[in-house]
Amino acid sequence: MSETFDFILFGGSGDLAMRKLLPALYYRHRDSGDTSGWRLIGLGRHPLSREEYLNLALEHCRRHIAAKDFSEAAWSAFARQLDYLQLDANDLQDYRALADWVGQADSRVRVFYLATEPGLFAAICNGLSAAGLVTPASRVVLEKPLGRDLASARRINEEVGAIFSEPQIFRIDHYLGKETVQNLIALRFGNVLLEPLWNRSWVRDVQITIAEMVGLEGRGDFYDRIGALRDMVQSHLLQLLCIVAMEPPANIEADTMRDEKLKVLRALRPIAGEDVAARIVRGQYHAGAIDNKPVPAYLDEPGIAAGSRTETFVAIKAELGNWRWAGVPFYLRTGKRMQQRLAEIVIHFRGVPHPMFRAVSGEPANRLVITLQPDESLRLDLMAKVPGEGMNVQPISLDVALSETYQTRQWDAYERLIMDVVHGKLTLFMRRDELDAAWQWLEPILKDWQKSTQPPRPYAAGTWGPTASSTLIARDGNAWREES
Ligand code: BG6
Repeated sequence: MSETFDFILFGGSGDLAMRKLLPALYYRHRDSGDTSGWRLIGLGRHPLSREEYLNLALEHCRRHIAAKDFSEAAWSAFARQLDYLQLDANDLQDYRALADWVGQADSRVRVFYLATEPGLFAAICNGLSAAGLVTPASRVVLEKPLGRDLASARRINEEVGAIFSEPQIFRIDHYLGKETVQNLIALRFGNVLLEPLWNRSWVRDVQITIAEMVGLEGRGDFYDRIGALRDMVQSHLLQLLCIVAMEPPANIEADTMRDEKLKVLRALRPIAGEDVAARIVRGQYHAGAIDNKPVPAYLDEPGIAAGSRTETFVAIKAELGNWRWAGVPFYLRTGKRMQQRLAEIVIHFRGVPHPMFRAVSGEPANRLVITLQPDESLRLDLMAKVPGEGMNVQPISLDVALSETYQTRQWDAYERLIMDVVHGKLTLFMRRDELDAAWQWLEPILKDWQKSTQPPRPYAAGTWGPTASSTLIARDGNAWREES
């Protein structure tokens, strides 16, 4: 990395640091020429020496960096830039020690990355400020979930906003850093082809799925307090919906893009009262099998409270109250311990106005499938004639496998987003009013669930979720796109 900056990582020995942040920095360091201008300090409660921290980092990074990309030489060069300091977020003394490490260079970019629970954000920002560490060249990165509800999200934003100005605050949603999500922006606004069709006249429904096969990955205690709605819908799914539904912005500057995303969030029709049960399915997995191996029920996972009602699955029928999208259902779905790992956006176009050929199925003829995971691809389904006698018309696909088209290594979302923070580019980060609008929409749902006596619907691990999820969409004559 030819850039000069200090990366000050709170939660430096935590899960996110080890699984995502250090590997992302390793790749950026390895793949750039001049690499000595930056340095990182991991901060945490554990009393680790620098050597112990490097050993811990090495042990984890070996697991999260592809074997073909790992070399001892690249690792030693990377590790030279790393350091560690024990720090108690609530102890002002400890920030002085951090200030000694940082030194006087006020114009140097300082990235304060808060990979900690949000309850510590205020204490950390105040500690940094008291130690004189916040300069105009400083940025703070806030990991999700930012709050548990509207009130707590507002409180966090107030507290952080008292120390950092809005352009210094990077609220991260790593889905916005994924290559395919940016490709969707390119696809929509770099071509004339789709725009005339991208509205209620031609789109029948939109489906956005993020299905995971993994369970709680050792984070049971955290997850049980959060659940799928806060963990995935509030951030990733709503952000994907924004990119699909937003109006063409005048440019890709941060505020122009974010203004358009905000309009989408504000156009979401409220789901409250009786509508919550009618339009939302929440589920919790029971014991089942993943890859033919038995897995326990959510309630039997470590860290889960007895009788917990935390949802591990959500399906929502959302709608936007605006001219472009009125009446078009946006089906959102996410879950842990599902049948497949799959993240995709499917745009179903309406059927032809006058069917000239024998219908092949009830499915619409045209759809655009944007797959984010497990592989990144774009696919447009069209009807074409099968060779031979007669007009036998069947679906075919125009398929672009991005990894084959561009045979370069795909950057992980965190690589791109970290470098954007260093360069001060806010386009792919959420603004305060976006976060507020997302929480405002979720607030009545959370309240309803809190009052409700209904437990989440059960589904067996290794399936596509509760049957009610299929019913939700079948009521409109639609079906989830699922390939087994
Ligand atoms: C995180 C959630 O934001 O995203 C996790 O907290 C989830 O629960 C993860 O597993 C999924 O990210 P990805 O990139 O693996 O789909």
